[in-house]
Amino acid sequence: MERQFDDYKAIVNKHLLDFIPVIDNKSISLYDAMKYSLTAGGKRLRPALLLAACEFAGGNIKEALPYAIAVEYIHTYSLIHDDLPAMDNDDLRRGLPTNHKVYGEAMAILAGDGLLNTAFEVMYKDMMMYFDDAAQMTKRVKASYEIAKGAGCRGMVAGQVSDIESEDSDISGEMLEYIHINKTGALIKAAIRAGLYMGNASSEMIEKMDVYAENLGLSFQIADDILDVVGNVEELGKNIGQDQKDNKNTYTSIYGLDAAYKRLDELSKAALDAIADYYDNAEFFSKLIDELKNRTK
Ligand code: IPE
Ligand code: IPE
Ligand code: MG
Ligand code: MG
Ligand code: MG
Repeated sequence: MERQFDDYKAIVNKHLLDFIPVIDNKSISLYDAMKYSLTAGGKRLRPALLLAACEFAGGNIKEALPYAIAVEYIHTYSLIHDDLPAMDNDDLRRGLPTNHKVYGEAMAILAGDGLLNTAFEVMYKDMMMYFDDAAQMTKRVKASYEIAKGAGCRGMVAGQVSDIESEDSDISGEMLEYIHINKTGALIKAAIRAGLYMGNASSEMIEKMDVYAENLGLSFQIADDILDVVGNVEELGKNIGQDQKDNKNTYTSIYGLDAAYKRLDELSKAALDAIADYYDNAEFFSKLIDELKNRTK
């Protein structure tokens, strides 16, 4: 029987701390702050997607695990920094006080830096075992390149910049889409691609899954915008109404709730259409779309 979302999530949670290098006791506060945000909770969407994509392509998830964990380190760093007073200024994350509320702003910045760099350390360490095997090395370089690109200045960081710069101003729908695709879509797409590379997917599969990933990524952020309006603090583990407080441009602020739901439907359908050729083999990916939609109900 094929693995379900919760199976991948359990694997990620089980190994989440295994890849943190031994940190000098003198820097133990750094370790504590990194661990705090990693273990606070989280859906583990991106690493689950990476592992599932690897298996979908016929690969072994043991090989993909370091890359999945690295993606969750990067995602968690992005949340710590996103919550800082200079960014979204949020107090609650993954059901607990945000990192800077517990460890102070300086340590929260450094814990984010620590997680980001550890992600690359983990991926390079894995690559170093394959110097003599070009095929094994190639897929790992491709996977880590996707992750670096998706998280960086042509991806997540670019989206975060535009998100911050657009506060308190009116922006076009096109600009909003640029923000969403980058701040959230890029890392999601990178996680899926990295998994596909680790599973030696065909270029045809990568092409189809790119379309799936783009639709999933945008719809995930639209759902996040909707939940900031209609969500429940206990379920979300973060406060609602934060976007309005920060004068953010969101899908709901620009188009309204009804239109946001409608767009979510359209994007979900487009994501499912992209993988229709795979029928039952893509059950993990089709189910995920339905679960995402149901979260906003
Ligand atoms: C929150 O991501 C930030 C966004 C990109 C919307 P998640 O909703 O995946 O947060 P966790 O990992 O479950 O805490
Ligand atoms: C964050 O988007 C995207 C990131 C790259 C962290 P949001 O600012 O909407 O995420 P939440 O709502 O704080 O989780
Ligand atoms: Mg933000
Ligand atoms: Mg935020
Ligand atoms: Mg949000």
